[in-house]
Amino acid sequence: MDANAVDTSMTANMTGGYDIEKIRSDFPILSRKIHGKPLVYLDSAASAQKPKVVIDALVSAYCDTYSNVHRGLHFLSEASTDAYEAVRGKVAHFIGAKSDDEIVLTAGATMALNMIAQCWALPRLKAGDEILISIADHHANIVPWQIVAEKTGAVLRAFPVDEDGSFNMTAFTDMITAQTKIVSVPHVSNVLGTVFPVAEMAKIAHDANALMVVDGCQGVVHMPVDVQTLDADFYVFSAHKLYGPNGVGILWGKAEILAELPPFLGGGDMIDRVTVEKSTYALPPHRFEAGTPAIAETIALGAAVDYVQSIGMEAIRAHEQDILSYAHQRLLAVDGLRLIGTAVEKSGVVSFTMDCAHPHDISTIIDNDGVAIRAGHHCAQPLMDFYDLPSTARASVGIYTTREEFDALAISLEKVNRIFA
Ligand code: ALA
Repeated sequence: MDANAVDTSMTANMTGGYDIEKIRSDFPILSRKIHGKPLVYLDSAASAQKPKVVIDALVSAYCDTYSNVHRGLHFLSEASTDAYEAVRGKVAHFIGAKSDDEIVLTAGATMALNMIAQCWALPRLKAGDEILISIADHHANIVPWQIVAEKTGAVLRAFPVDEDGSFNMTAFTDMITAQTKIVSVPHVSNVLGTVFPVAEMAKIAHDANALMVVDGCQGVVHMPVDVQTLDADFYVFSAHKLYGPNGVGILWGKAEILAELPPFLGGGDMIDRVTVEKSTYALPPHRFEAGTPAIAETIALGAAVDYVQSIGMEAIRAHEQDILSYAHQRLLAVDGLRLIGTAVEKSGVVSFTMDCAHPHDISTIIDNDGVAIRAGHHCAQPLMDFYDLPSTARASVGIYTTREEFDALAISLEKVNRIFA
């Protein structure tokens, strides 16, 4: 086959009942050109594009119902509050939370992880206690624990993965000790794509009397998540990777654990009663939501949740798994390309290096063909050290990704080979 030709028969076979053309047409940005070429957007793991329903919900929240929430008794404030609070319920239903009150709306997943570190860990940990993460964690699931460790004398440890990026149960359990107080891991590695068996890990953590935290940023976007089945204590994720707006994150926590936590930030909307001498606090989740929140963005997150649910998370998983295995096969045919992360249980991203060029050069060159990938350390420097790499190139898969886009990437990468030959 001509390297530039598009194999539509494979696409037809692949898509089955999944209406990829309709889904792509829902995303206005996907029809634009970059440097005169059709956009090939393979950077959804950094931030996903937004369907028109989300953009419309954002505009409508400002044009039709905008006012502050939880504060006014006038029509708009009540409309805005109702729309905002309805999202808590949508998210609770989306991830199977026991109640809406287990959903804390934050400014992002990073803030959610910092909140757990500051509110749960800081008052409880003491010198010699251990916090166990993986070597594949994002900086957002490393640095907040280091801050707590520095203040308490606790020790941060990281269990390794196998060379191919697979989760290794022995490596994990070997590092659980009587001192382990917290296990905090990614649901899916943002570099390797490895899917961690978080339900099994939660059981092991709980048997060791440790708290189980899951960074679900790259998990909840690719597969159905039921927090009650996973049975961790906290599960966090961000709206912008779930086809929603920036500036909103979700912290799900078990009600009984949230009830024990002190506030994270003080301010309006998180109190029960304030006097000059002291304050008492609202019940969760409002105790953790000081200040005016990202109102319109949260309402638009509700539209994003409705949107992915209208497609179905099982259907999304099946589509993306097909694209991922095609991506592996297509990229492995590129001369001098090495995949970083080939675990069998894998989702969402394909990281790679090339013999001929630095990832930054790869990304810059293929950008001329309209192909957008991420290159760098992916906020996972310990993992780069583990592989003795300065950085990788990373292509990611979203609900709108096609096989043809990986054909375009592979063709562009062959061009990189020719340029550096
Ligand atoms: N955490 C995001 C990524 O992996 C930004 O690219």
